[in-house]
Amino acid sequence: MLIAIPDLLTPAQVAQARRLLDAADWIDGRATAGHQGAHVKDNMQLPVDSPTAAEVGRLILQALGSNPLFMSAALPLHVLPPMFNRYSGGQTFGTHVDGAIRTLPGGQRIRTDLSCTLFFAEPDEYDGGDLVVEDTYGSQAVKLPAGHAVLYPSTSLHQVTPVTRGTRLCSFFWIQSMIREDSRRSLLFDMDVAIQQLGAESPAHPSVVSLTGVYHNLLRQWAEM
Ligand code: NI
Repeated sequence: MLIAIPDLLTPAQVAQARRLLDAADWIDGRATAGHQGAHVKDNMQLPVDSPTAAEVGRLILQALGSNPLFMSAALPLHVLPPMFNRYSGGQTFGTHVDGAIRTLPGGQRIRTDLSCTLFFAEPDEYDGGDLVVEDTYGSQAVKLPAGHAVLYPSTSLHQVTPVTRGTRLCSFFWIQSMIREDSRRSLLFDMDVAIQQLGAESPAHPSVVSLTGVYHNLLRQWAEM
């Protein structure tokens, strides 16, 4: 399931991040591509040890931690440090699947359950550059306003179509969820949304408490930590 997270960052945060990103030193994205990715990847990235990546990354992690939609949809156990990429002049990233395991600088290994793309350029600033994700229901093309993000299962094949005008600027990162399986995570998310809605419309309804109990008991059965 693809889930859009609107307004993850405020316009002021986007503007601040863009000032920092514009002034940073970018490198060829193939530096961090795996064997499979190197053939189809053509973009620019911030180096993993970039101070700008660390600074804007902190801003993103803070925003994620206080975003109820992200927390409910991802049920995050670990969020990897955000990375940054830039596409222009026809650059593209052909169809690929993200690696299942990533190793943090300290040696800790993280399983990638969810992938997230956060947009820093407005859709009318560039042509092409759609994130195309092969979902259960077919291909979905995603191009969101600056400050908005999309979450999708890391098991999905995906690509970024060639950017034929302007510059596409994004952050991307992975999440290990407490709920490994996409189908279970989706069920919990749908249930949480329904409970929130019921709670908002009739807060005194006894089903709010009993359904919240069912939600937490499912989470207790399925969560891995
Ligand atoms: Ni990818």
